[in-house]
Amino acid sequence: MNRTNYLGEIGNENIGQKVKVYGWIKKHRDLGELIFIDLQDFTGYSQIVVTSECKEFSLSHGFRMDYVVAIEGVVRKREEVNCKIPTGNIEILATSIQVINKSEPVPLINEDETDASEETRLAYRYLDLRRKPMQDNLKLRHKTAKTIRNFLDGEHFLEVETPMLTKSTPEGARDYLVPSRVNKGKYYALPQSPQIYKNLLMIAGVDRYYQIVKCFRDEDLRSDRQPEFTQVDIEMSFMSEEQIRDITEIMLKEVMLEVKGLDIKEKFPIMTYSYAMDKYGVDKPDTRFNMMINDVTSLFSDSEFTVFKNAELVRNIVVKDAASDYSRKDITKLEDVCKKHHAKGMAWLKLVDGEFTGSIAKVISDSEKMNLISDLNLENNDLILFIADKFEIVCSALGNLRNFIATQRNMYSKDDFNFVWIIDWPMFEYDEKLERYFAMHHPFTMPKNGEFSKSNLEQMAQSYDIVLNGYEVGGGSIRINTPELQMEMFEKLGFEKEDAIKEFGFMMDAYKYGGPHHGGIALGLDRLVMILAGTDSIKDVIAFPKNNKAIETMIDSPSNVSELQLGELNIIEKNGTSNE
Ligand code: AMO
Repeated sequence: MNRTNYLGEIGNENIGQKVKVYGWIKKHRDLGELIFIDLQDFTGYSQIVVTSECKEFSLSHGFRMDYVVAIEGVVRKREEVNCKIPTGNIEILATSIQVINKSEPVPLINEDETDASEETRLAYRYLDLRRKPMQDNLKLRHKTAKTIRNFLDGEHFLEVETPMLTKSTPEGARDYLVPSRVNKGKYYALPQSPQIYKNLLMIAGVDRYYQIVKCFRDEDLRSDRQPEFTQVDIEMSFMSEEQIRDITEIMLKEVMLEVKGLDIKEKFPIMTYSYAMDKYGVDKPDTRFNMMINDVTSLFSDSEFTVFKNAELVRNIVVKDAASDYSRKDITKLEDVCKKHHAKGMAWLKLVDGEFTGSIAKVISDSEKMNLISDLNLENNDLILFIADKFEIVCSALGNLRNFIATQRNMYSKDDFNFVWIIDWPMFEYDEKLERYFAMHHPFTMPKNGEFSKSNLEQMAQSYDIVLNGYEVGGGSIRINTPELQMEMFEKLGFEKEDAIKEFGFMMDAYKYGGPHHGGIALGLDRLVMILAGTDSIKDVIAFPKNNKAIETMIDSPSNVSELQLGELNIIEKNGTSNE
């Protein structure tokens, strides 16, 4: 008899039927005369009852968790219904059992909640993936990708694969390099994104391209970053910024509907980069809660308190009705968050019964206090946290503090999904250490109005990011499509003409042969699924992720390779010495 049913799909309609099921033993309760087994497959689990009527009854006493078995039996109604699981109405009375494979005691128990360390979870990933929440994440990811594919197919997009063994692209991170055996001393780079290829596909006339594609970036890892990650990469010809945002928005709404059952009717809000920085302190604002940043620099322009008077900016956030919740020790913890983001210190005030207390209560004047109350609409029990410093430091300290406090005070719900578009980005940022400009998006981004008309720091770009719950889930731009403008861009980035031609001449050449007006976007699929899954670790939605040191412990990658291999790749001399 072949498998007749999946274990998570058996219900009242199967009562009385003879079935054959396969699965892993999730629970084994031996009551002597009676054995209960919870048997699990990818769809869920059902309760199996083994009695002396089953041929393998005595054998079943020795079964352990995670044994793989095939069971034949008859579905019957349970005496005591278990409302917590979908198959809680029924059980299967076993008539025969076949052990497919035994299992040693597992280092990671198959339970929804686990207290196993991340190290154990990654080292035994196949056992971690056997747990329901992880299987649910795999299914959610599949459903998200499927919805995206269906949507893009319906909109006449063509999925085109682009090379993995390619050339360095200037996406901003370090490349992973692959030595070429055939071409001694030369290296391929794994793509940081398919950006150049999708530009070339537009020149080829493909019109609407997409690809769900692996990208590789050698950068410091965070909870929302992996060295290899997946983009939903999109490019379109003859479209404006607004049109690209619109189609992306419709696609994301489709995902929300299919995957989360949420029908978002309103248009996603649009915010300029400079507004986001001023009011939220970050370029990926979490709009699920308010507590926005206030600028009070002008209130202190003549202050006797010189720290505020002399600062480039004085800004604050007001934590409403919270003063009594924060002891001095708690406030020191908030200050530590600011210091982690380079602030020298954090000033604070509490307004209690019309009186201010706190670190600066004695050094600011009565009229400054009155102005604070009226300008910020302060109320009893408000806590006010100030940073006085340069723009970048004020933003990063208050922006991160805002997020920290919102999490600490449960100011949002896991069921909120707040999208926001960030537009009007600056074209360049200046790196003071390296003393050079970098493209804020990438060097193929079209300047506003199609020309470089302003100084580098004032020049705006035709680019946009889509942000969800404080995470950047995607970014894109309209692209430069003439060789002249592209060369101007490289020169602004400090490239010598010859170097730009050497690196990207092929692309500038391609635009000589008819380059359409085009633009696109790439969504971080892992990040999007992470948010939809309600987890804050990207590793939870990737089947086989790397740990924070970019190591896959289960298969021990990266690992040493033989001298023979290194010799063949010309990395060491064939006699074993280094080539460097
Ligand atoms: P960008 O560099 O903004 O744009 O990347 C697009 C999106 O990819 C996700 N992402 C990551 N996810 C996980 N781990 C990482 N290390 C990682 N790095 C990026 C983010 C990000 O928004 N070629 C352009 C797109 C374009 O212009 O069309 C690009 O790659 O969610």
